Amino acid sequence: MSDEIKIQLTTTPGNKPDSSNLSFGKYFTDHMFIMDYHTEKGWHDPRIVPYAPIALDPAAMVFHYGQAVFEGLKAYMTDSGKVLLFRPDKNMERLNRSNDRLGIPEVDGEFVIQAIKTLIEIDKSWIPTEKGTSLYVRPFIIATEPCLGVRSSYTYQLIVILSPVGAYYSGGLEPVKINVESSYTRAVRGGIGYAKAAGNYAASIKAQENAKKEGFSQVLWLDAIEKKYIEEVGSMNIFFKIAGTVITPEINGSILEGVTRDSVITLLKDWGVPVEERKLSIEEIYEAYKQGQLEEVFGTGTAAVISPVGELHWNEHTMAINDKKIGELSQKLYDTITGLQAGQLPDTRNWTI
Ligand code: COI
Repeated sequence: MSDEIKIQLTTTPGNKPDSSNLSFGKYFTDHMFIMDYHTEKGWHDPRIVPYAPIALDPAAMVFHYGQAVFEGLKAYMTDSGKVLLFRPDKNMERLNRSNDRLGIPEVDGEFVIQAIKTLIEIDKSWIPTEKGTSLYVRPFIIATEPCLGVRSSYTYQLIVILSPVGAYYSGGLEPVKINVESSYTRAVRGGIGYAKAAGNYAASIKAQENAKKEGFSQVLWLDAIEKKYIEEVGSMNIFFKIAGTVITPEINGSILEGVTRDSVITLLKDWGVPVEERKLSIEEIYEAYKQGQLEEVFGTGTAAVISPVGELHWNEHTMAINDKKIGELSQKLYDTITGLQAGQLPDTRNWTI
């Protein structure tokens, strides 16, 4: 992919939102990046254009068979006015794994990172600087060919949009109440759970809505076969600190390989905290809780970074974790990752560019 990126700037720039009240994914910047794919031409015509609705044929395959994948990463403005991206190479690797699973053609990750940098440079003034805020970058790919046959589309669009964001949960870094989901499953091995496919998120919504009605923030997903092993929490990976050891479910085909998950594991190992990636059952969690060994529970994801769990409900059992307060390790991980992302801590691992 060597085409030059054409740039068309907006003549009607939008008003910037109040950065003390951004919430998540509600505002979008003035421009977006688009690139087309055709089986005969490959990826072509990369361009930055004013942010606007896109026109698609009602028969576009994405609407019917859900060939859609996405990514999420964040850009931060440092105190010295530099813009940092956090581990974008990991997002590109995962985008291509998702593409492969969904029958979508591979992209040149380095080129897409270059496109993201160019887009952010143009919309740099939209990067919020208040503590806890950032510019969320959402690349996604959709199947655009008008055809109702069930097969891989011949045409696609890769689009990147940018959204100034605050905390993912309205309460910020507040411990949340989670219900262990016993009826629905998010994904099954052999399916698309490891891909960042739009369909996985569609599959999660009903359980999430039921949980909300009952006063929970999110659900804890169990494996689809034995309904016993922990998989993810809401749209995040999950970690448990039990008697000093941090345990997270191993990557098994149905769990998303989170970039924050990987960063957390790396940091914990560097700090000398024992970490295990393995199968972990809900019974084991409850046993640890009864013995007073369940010390911290937290979700990890790009959007929320670290999301502490204060209460875990499983059938008739309620587990209050760390007095429903933020655990010391959860706080340290949050401060370290956001500190690195914002360029406030020395980046010895070259995670930021
Ligand atoms: C994340 O935690 O970054 C996610 O994947 C959630 C996102 C879909 C908003």
